[in-house]
Amino acid sequence: MTTIPVKDAWKQGALLSEADYAAWYRRSVEDPEGFWGEHGKRVDWITPFTKVKNTSFAPGNVSIKWFEDGVLNVSANCLDRHLESRGEQTAILFEGDDPADSRAISYRELHGEVCRMANVLKAHGVQKGDRVTIYLPMIPEAAYAMLACARIGAVHSVVFGGFSPDALGGRLAGAGSSVLITADEGRRGGKSVPLKKNADRAVEIAAKAGQVVSTVLVVQRTGGDVAVTPGRDIWWHEARETVEASCEPEPMGAEDPLFILYTSGSTGQPKGVLHTSGGYLVYAAMTHQYVFDLREGEVYWCTADVGWVTGHSYIVYGPLANGATTLMFEGVPNYPDASRFWQVIDKHQVNIFYTAPTAIRALMGAGDAFVEKTSRKSLRVLGSVGEPINPEAWNWYYKIVGEERCPIVDTWWQTETGGILITPLPGAIALKPGSATRPFFGVKPELVDSEGGVLEGAVSGNLCITDSWPGQMRTVYGDHERFEQTYFSTYPGKYFTGDGARRDEDGYWWITGRVDDVINVSGHRMGTAEVESALVSHPKVSEAAVVGYPHDIKGQGIYCYVTLMTGEEPSEALKKELVAHVRNEIGPIASPDQIQFSPGLPKTRSGKIMRRILRKIAENDFGALGDTSTLADPAVVDDLIEHRQNKE
Ligand code: WTA
Repeated sequence: MTTIPVKDAWKQGALLSEADYAAWYRRSVEDPEGFWGEHGKRVDWITPFTKVKNTSFAPGNVSIKWFEDGVLNVSANCLDRHLESRGEQTAILFEGDDPADSRAISYRELHGEVCRMANVLKAHGVQKGDRVTIYLPMIPEAAYAMLACARIGAVHSVVFGGFSPDALGGRLAGAGSSVLITADEGRRGGKSVPLKKNADRAVEIAAKAGQVVSTVLVVQRTGGDVAVTPGRDIWWHEARETVEASCEPEPMGAEDPLFILYTSGSTGQPKGVLHTSGGYLVYAAMTHQYVFDLREGEVYWCTADVGWVTGHSYIVYGPLANGATTLMFEGVPNYPDASRFWQVIDKHQVNIFYTAPTAIRALMGAGDAFVEKTSRKSLRVLGSVGEPINPEAWNWYYKIVGEERCPIVDTWWQTETGGILITPLPGAIALKPGSATRPFFGVKPELVDSEGGVLEGAVSGNLCITDSWPGQMRTVYGDHERFEQTYFSTYPGKYFTGDGARRDEDGYWWITGRVDDVINVSGHRMGTAEVESALVSHPKVSEAAVVGYPHDIKGQGIYCYVTLMTGEEPSEALKKELVAHVRNEIGPIASPDQIQFSPGLPKTRSGKIMRRILRKIAENDFGALGDTSTLADPAVVDDLIEHRQNKE
């Protein structure tokens, strides 16, 4: 496999050299107290911490605390402390869906807007510790809302704008939110997204689950006609006129919750990942600075949505804590055409660009001309996140987009990890296309076999992390037992990531993808169990099994085996009905790509569905089904194969 050594140009002005990386890494794992004690000071503390690390992965006693006696406010760290030195500098560069729509928001302006929104929330009774749910498009108000919560000590739960009313309702109830912040409509690819309408439905669904939403703060984005419930709904543009543009930041303990973010797991419904204030901010800011080799005055653009963790850590908290200029893009990569990303880069002179492999593959498919007609000379560092990047896409990104001038940082991490764990550093680590390369400071990855035996040398296995880092999630909101069970029980004493990985002869890490029942569709994380539960909630469906299969653009597609109720006939119309049903239950991101009606599913004699076999059949890999003799009815498999082949 090719190695691309660190180029001289990348070393110039870089924060760290190859030797620095080695020395810093060694210290970070040999003396975590000393290392993080020093780097913990990068944020402003109201009361400085005296304790650094207090963490245990021990079975039955998992507890993670960092900087526990320190007191700080995350919003003050992202805003107030920059006012003197960079008050007039652009904090958020907003690029609308419509290319004619963009504007710059300075740190001073951002501070004012956040304070106003904080005051509006307070005026509606929001207090420290209350949960506020945010369901907004990619507009600056999404950042105002998150930071306003952080300012007054409320815990935000951002729900991606592509989720359905059902999904939003469930998350409102799960978090116990009585306040929801949304917009009239969103704008994506020239089309509008009916957020307020969805929100109204979601509030009804939450009420049925026992959660009353008493306040809905509505941002006017498109001016579209929406229903207003008097006494409950308030327009942000009206409310902001009634409050002061200053608001004292609430002093928060380092371990006070900052946010909940729902994410999919291998079983059950999505869980609320809880992140706290001090360690999360230190880790998000530090990784943002070193992974992107951030320099003063640069324009940084991460194309994720604030509804995902990447948007939390690398659009809002990391960049703003670092006093950077962060670009927020409302639109999609192919609107008005497939040149949009590259045009925005030229328009705003973007230096650092961070996107997902699925977007890279789609744009690669659109052809080089869309890229080559733009300059892209401002680019210095390129990043990738969300799923494994295949070497073809990596090479295209490197050669065509970056013209071999820009290093690519392929960053591996998870909602649970709060920030990047395995990644190259631009001036310090040689690249290999498709490898996330090396662990970040303080991160101790390990490979284990299925029995938990530690694997040494160049080998593949299950990826665990053996010690805590400051950005790690602290618990599953309201269910610490599920936290322990999900992450620390498979390999006791270790955090199990759910990913498989390979370590090569140079000690480089290659993430191979999930080894559990989570799939990654266009970089969106999805539990197969969630899609199954949506399918079986349809009256004509008796049973369903869902697996991922390789998809050229999306990385993985959603393959559904569906057994119908007795008497129901398979048809194309019913397939469409089921697709629509899943979109309704979860959202468009969960749309099944393939539905195969199957009279029976391969089960063990104890009734467990053998997903391994279903995965192979979905992959069209019939030669590698393995042992099917333990099945209750081996003939089911032949039938499934026959139907799969007939589809081709
Ligand atoms: C996958 C997104 C390979 C992985 C930040 C992980 C990756 C899941 C990479 C987390 C990468 C993320 N290379 N795989 N660079 N980055 N993944 O929680 O399977 O939405 O477990 O967090 O995405 O997805 P999540």
